[in-house]
Amino acid sequence: MITKVCCIGAGYVGGPTSSVIALKCPSVTVTVVDYNKERIEAWNSADYDLPIYEPSLVDVVRECRGRNLFFSTEVAKSIEEADLIFISVNTPTKTFGLGKGRAADLKYIESAARCIADYAHGPKVVVEKSTVPVKAAESISRILKANSRNGNCFQVLSNPEFLAEGTAIKDLLNPDRVLIGGPQTEDGQHAVRCLCWIYEHWVSKSNIITTNTWSSELSKLAANAFLAQRISSINAMSAICEATGADVGEVAHAIGTDSRIGPKFLQASVGFGGSCFQKDVLNLVYLCEVLHLPEVAAYWQQVVDMNDYQRRRFSNRIIASLFNTVTDKKIAILGFAFKKDTADTRESSSIFVCQHLIDEGAQVVVYDPKVREASVRRDVNMVCSDPERVERLLTVSEDAYSAVQDAHAFVVCTEWDEFKTLDFQRIYDSMLKPSFAFDGRIILNHEQLRTIGFQVEVIGQASKQRVASGFFE
Ligand code: NAD
Ligand code: UDX
Repeated sequence: MITKVCCIGAGYVGGPTSSVIALKCPSVTVTVVDYNKERIEAWNSADYDLPIYEPSLVDVVRECRGRNLFFSTEVAKSIEEADLIFISVNTPTKTFGLGKGRAADLKYIESAARCIADYAHGPKVVVEKSTVPVKAAESISRILKANSRNGNCFQVLSNPEFLAEGTAIKDLLNPDRVLIGGPQTEDGQHAVRCLCWIYEHWVSKSNIITTNTWSSELSKLAANAFLAQRISSINAMSAICEATGADVGEVAHAIGTDSRIGPKFLQASVGFGGSCFQKDVLNLVYLCEVLHLPEVAAYWQQVVDMNDYQRRRFSNRIIASLFNTVTDKKIAILGFAFKKDTADTRESSSIFVCQHLIDEGAQVVVYDPKVREASVRRDVNMVCSDPERVERLLTVSEDAYSAVQDAHAFVVCTEWDEFKTLDFQRIYDSMLKPSFAFDGRIILNHEQLRTIGFQVEVIGQASKQRVASGFFE
């Protein structure tokens, strides 16, 4: 019987997941710990100014915080008291050393495992919630065994998280499936049943899949790789559409009605962003290389390469349309988050579009409904080599209308709903002429924009006013 749960890592996964467990399991006390004091203070803030924005998250936290949901920096105490511990720490792509740029950096996983070994007294179920390379559970087990005192007994399970940002609470409350992998031993299977018991408070048994540990770990990488691959596939089609006059929306609909293909994740875009897809595909690529499977590695690498190509292609289309120069031209970027309904900007395609345009000397003005100026500046500076240039050319605006004032073009990079209902006549009147609209998300009413007078360029649709030198390469 589980009465106390500890979650190490109060981020995009640890926070919402723990909140929903607390909501659905009133008899279980859930404590989310993090060594980031600021983050924990935000989770505990009196006015519920939480460190991450997720629709409905604040309602769940309001209901549970102080009842059976706690946020704390007291890692040792929480580990000591817990029966079950989720490891929900970040696993970013390594930026140096062996596997740089591809392998997952497991230092946070290892430090969490060492904390558990140091502070645990008595048996614990340790659950790998973070996305990790296959066999990471083995490393965690070894660290725990080698460092534990008092004959502690640990069972290490894999329970990857499939929530998507922006819909995290919905996904957690109604998951397509919960996946739990564990050792094929009596104790291992007992631990699996304990974790199943938690989820069975709100997920039907038929939606809880149990596998061996390695299948569970690989399934998480595989799921993200398949999803990312669909986006790269439709984006590859978008390039063909732009060159031929086919329309990528029509193609997506036509193929998506085949029940074997299905309609989801066929939305062509300026490229996928977010903290997971690129990181996890690269993690898979690295795993294949280590396993001496270069053909498999090259296959998955192409998913990421296609995404980079799409971002570059879109930026080049902006430059080509604006008479092959954007130097000193004001260009408004609408949307900086990697998707709507989140303030998360990790790996957002907007960052790279800004980089490409700033490299060309454009004056870039960013507006996003949720992303703060400091995040925009930090992200653009991370990819642009010249901070003085960024300071001179990048501005962040408080609203869409001031962003587009006197601009040559606006560029939709994130599919925020509020962009669909902007007053485009007002926008057109305030812009320089000819006024360009670039839709990198295919969300606007293009005919209406053309009627107003915009030159409209849409991902996956051929330009209606292709300029003489309009190569988008
Ligand atoms: P995040 O960066 O938002 O949060 C991780 C937190 O862990 C940070 O606050 C960090 O301070 C804390 N931390 C790291 N090491 C610690 C330690 N030893 N002790 C205490 N705290 C520690 O990351 P995230 O987006 O929540 O992702 C977590 C994991 O879940 C990653 O492996 C990610 O791939 C996976 N995942 C993420 C998503 C998503 O949508 N973000 C979805 C599914 C899976
Ligand atoms: C993803 C997975 O969906 C989720 O299951 C996993 O747990 C974490 O990684 P997330 O990155 O939060 O979730 O959002 P997702 O909705 O998958 O979008 C990722 C990126 O792909 C976004 O930039 C989004 O705009 C883009 N996208 C998505 C497309 O360009 N086209 C689509 O059809 C779908």
